[in-house]
Amino acid sequence: MSQTNVKIGIIGGGLMGREMASAFARWCAMTDVTVRPVLTAVADLNPATLGWFDCIPSCTQRVTDYHELLANPEIDVVYVAVPHNLHEKIYCDVLAAGKDLFAEKPFGIDLPAARRIAAAVKASGRFVRCSSEMPFFPGGQRAFSTAASGKIGRILEVVSGFHHSSDLDATKPANWKRLNATCGEGGVLNDLGMHACHLPLRLGWSPSRVFAQLQRGYPQRPDGKGGSVACDTWDNALVHGWTTIGGEEVPLRLEMKRLMPGATNTWFIEVLGTDGGVRFSTAEPKTLWLFERGKEQWWKRTDLGFSTQFKTVTGGIFEPGFPDVIQQMWAAYLMERAGELGDRFGCATPEEAVASHEVFAAAMESHRTGASVAV
Ligand SMILES: NC(=O)c1ccc[n+]([C@@H]2O[C@H](COP(=O)([O-])OP(=O)(O)OC[C@H]3O[C@@H](n4cnc5c(N)ncnc54)[C@H](O)[C@@H]3O)[C@@H](O)[C@H]2O)c1
Repeated sequence: MSQTNVKIGIIGGGLMGREMASAFARWCAMTDVTVRPVLTAVADLNPATLGWFDCIPSCTQRVTDYHELLANPEIDVVYVAVPHNLHEKIYCDVLAAGKDLFAEKPFGIDLPAARRIAAAVKASGRFVRCSSEMPFFPGGQRAFSTAASGKIGRILEVVSGFHHSSDLDATKPANWKRLNATCGEGGVLNDLGMHACHLPLRLGWSPSRVFAQLQRGYPQRPDGKGGSVACDTWDNALVHGWTTIGGEEVPLRLEMKRLMPGATNTWFIEVLGTDGGVRFSTAEPKTLWLFERGKEQWWKRTDLGFSTQFKTVTGGIFEPGFPDVIQQMWAAYLMERAGELGDRFGCATPEEAVASHEVFAAAMESHRTGASVAV
């Protein structure tokens, strides 16, 4: 299939900047998309980080000042992966430069910033989406279609979450994600919340009110330079909400944890209905659990294999992983930008990103007041 090149610039070449670069570099795996990302430029404050991009021959512009990247007329789309306190300024600069934007979550450091970014997106007319890759797992897609099918009876409960254990080790040096000034007051809500909110919001199941329990991690961590630094972010968040599905109030629980013993990068969703249900967790990346009720009741386990939304050279029996769903997410972004997504699942929209921040703001107020709070 012939493919149209889309020239990409990355601002922030850290963990996620490099992950995206490697997804583009392996684009030969994609067999049914009409677009091809070509990494053309990268901007990062750290020259050593820029050095990594030597391994990408097409990435000929490597700069420490991102304004130089934005001034490059060749670049069509800019992906931004920087600390949360820089989102608003850099996203708005990308839009002002006339580029399309693939923004990292949480789409601004807090709700007011998210709303200002969304207003700038609207005023610019540019194509903008927010990163949230986990629903692109085949199991995430099946959970979504099962939940949306209307065939699982009256929905009784929805649980959606993201757990990891990166903060269990008290000797691990702090980075910007452990400080309110750079991660935002939302802490783990900002860090993991978009992942937990994406499918419920896409299903139209936004919570109308929430009660939240937030927990902090270790108050001090090594600073990596022989000293220590105060860490003030929330590490775990349980958000208990009510949503309305089919005219009924339904409990919706969102779980975001950086202190979850045993978990590495586990995204999960469970939707239980009177006649059916579905469970998927990236802890078992090709396994889907479907509930059926007849004379007896069954939880049926299916090995989905590599049944991704966009087809690839990878054999159908193989397991999907994080780099694969990153690539699927980019395929969805670029195909939607080209007007060729059709009825396939698209990336999180600016409206969904703002809606997730509305949930985070209500959750913080609930924790502060000890009351349930309208979203
Ligand atoms: N979608 C996901 O699964 C996922 C996973 C991790 C992080 N993230 C998000 O990605 C973003 C970045 O996180 P990360 O883990 O890659 O962080 P990181 O610290 O690994 O990388 C951030 C990079 O930004 C660079 N930077 C800082 N200020 C800059 C500036 N003014 N100009 C250019 N570069 C600058 C830093 O030098 C660093 O290399 C955050 O929004 C985070 O929430 C998303």
